[in-house]
Amino acid sequence: MGKWFPRIYDIAMRPIERSGFKKIRTKLGKEANGRVLEVGSGTGINFPYYRNAIRVDAIEPNSIMREKSLRRLERARVPIQLSNARAESLPFADDTFDTVLATLVFCTIPNPVKAIQEIERVSKPGAKVLFFEHVRVEQPFLRKTQDLLTPLWKKLCDGCHLNRDTLALLKQSNLEVTEVKYYYNQIFVVVKSFNNKSNKL
Ligand SMILES: C[S@@+](CC[C@H](N)C(=O)[O-])C[C@H]1O[C@@H](n2cnc3c(N)ncnc32)[C@H](O)[C@@H]1O
Repeated sequence: MGKWFPRIYDIAMRPIERSGFKKIRTKLGKEANGRVLEVGSGTGINFPYYRNAIRVDAIEPNSIMREKSLRRLERARVPIQLSNARAESLPFADDTFDTVLATLVFCTIPNPVKAIQEIERVSKPGAKVLFFEHVRVEQPFLRKTQDLLTPLWKKLCDGCHLNRDTLALLKQSNLEVTEVKYYYNQIFVVVKSFNNKSNKL
């Protein structure tokens, strides 16, 4: 992984965080309750927003990101345990979590299908699974632009696929999608779902 991307991440994100993402993160943070898993916690940008979690287990494979998140971790209102792990191989037992949160991370995970399967495994039956992601758009011009930019974008932004169809992957998974809310010309989306595995047994 590149070193400069994690170092400039917070500064680069500041304008969009202030203009809209902060509101989205605030709502998602409040919704996360019980034992919470955060996937790809980056610089800990969601850490200040947790209010109702008993405990948060955050996983993040990038050591610079983990280090940058420590200040927010120490100031958080809930206990947060941070681990070096990848979404495709979560170091947790089956049926551990009441809520799973992933924000702006499924664009970068090398094997998103495996990551969703792991989230299904470690979350309890009925657990909330919440996502805030950028996705492949329907609008033809924007879609083409996403496709054209993706090869360079991946190099600049640590493997981020601008054009990944994460929403389709979630709909095809065993998670039950209950709400989809679009933002910024349908480029960003909040997806609420739950783990309905007990219903399928
Ligand atoms: C664009 S950043 C988003 C960080 C943070 N979640 C946010 O909302 O700003 C993407 C994050 O995904 C992490 N990541 C990349 N591959 C991953 C994987 N296989 N499993 C978990 N996290 C991963 C990166 O290290 C990075 O911290």
